[in-house]
Amino acid sequence: MTNIQNVAIIGSGTMGNGIAHTFAQFGFKVALVDISQEALDRGIATITKNLDRQVAKGSITESDKQNTLTNITSFTDMKTGVANVDLVVEAATENVDLKLKIFKDLDAFTSPETILATNTSSISITKIAAVTSKADKVIGMHFMNPVPIMKLVEVIRGYATSDEVAALTMELSKKLGKTPTEVNDYPGFVANRILMPMINEAIYSLYEGVAGVEEIDTVMKLGMAHPMGPLQLADFIGLDVCLSILNVLYDGFGNPKYAPCPLLVNMVTAGYKGAKSGEGFYKYTAGSKDLVVSAKFKK
Ligand SMILES: NC(=O)c1ccc[n+]([C@@H]2O[C@H](COP(=O)([O-])OP(=O)(O)OC[C@H]3O[C@@H](n4cnc5c(N)ncnc54)[C@H](O)[C@@H]3O)[C@@H](O)[C@H]2O)c1
Repeated sequence: MTNIQNVAIIGSGTMGNGIAHTFAQFGFKVALVDISQEALDRGIATITKNLDRQVAKGSITESDKQNTLTNITSFTDMKTGVANVDLVVEAATENVDLKLKIFKDLDAFTSPETILATNTSSISITKIAAVTSKADKVIGMHFMNPVPIMKLVEVIRGYATSDEVAALTMELSKKLGKTPTEVNDYPGFVANRILMPMINEAIYSLYEGVAGVEEIDTVMKLGMAHPMGPLQLADFIGLDVCLSILNVLYDGFGNPKYAPCPLLVNMVTAGYKGAKSGEGFYKYTAGSKDLVVSAKFKK
């Protein structure tokens, strides 16, 4: 399997539609698979809106936009969608049981040669690979959000991933205009192993009264040249997602340094999940241009 042309993406949410957009823009034929036509329609609408933005900025032409859209076909039936593809990139909801079921099915529905990649943020690649009959063909391809813009692909080798599949995945990521970086399969890989403890420490600093929301974010933005502060970033990632990744680190290493801050646990339990729920450390109101600190954290 050296010439990858046909690709299936499982899941058309935030990451899946971005991954489909990127492959299609670089000339690959993409089968986009989700469980409902509504989810697929939302995914295609997002891709169209993001392509329009690229045309407006002059980074692609109108005909590039049309070609990209033509390269994408959507499917609600996974078996049909993945028939005859060279590569699958799974970007369904972050849930271990769901991913294990999807990979069992992918193993049955694809040819022995098909590479099976997952975009999981934190679930063990080795564990996912173990439910298939071809663990050497299973690999992590961790794209960053928003996929068409962010350069990094964290390529994660499972315990049994072959050298050939790792090399192919690195090569393929470069063909998408990305900069791939190869890492091994331990909890959080590299990106989240470093990012999540920083976010957790920022939340602890707030919880212990060291400083307020804006002060913590300002220190990291202006002092460390981060494009956004860790509390705002946590809001964008989703506080529920941050909590679940911290739990993966805590369980995986058994080290108390990864224990999620009780304030984060309380916020998620109360439904304050960040930007997607309208409120986290900041309040997100439709049309508001300026970030407003949540009333809960106003001094
Ligand atoms: N959001 C991020 O910033 C980010 C960054 C890197 C990696 N990830 C990872 O990407 C994956 C997807 O995350 P997301 O943020 O796009 O989630 P999302 O909730 O936006 O989208 C998930 C999609 O998967 C679909 N889905 C669920 N079960 C399915 C099935 N059996 N078959 C096909 N589709 C199914 C859902 O309908 C939904 O459209 C997760 O593994 C997550 O950890 C997310």
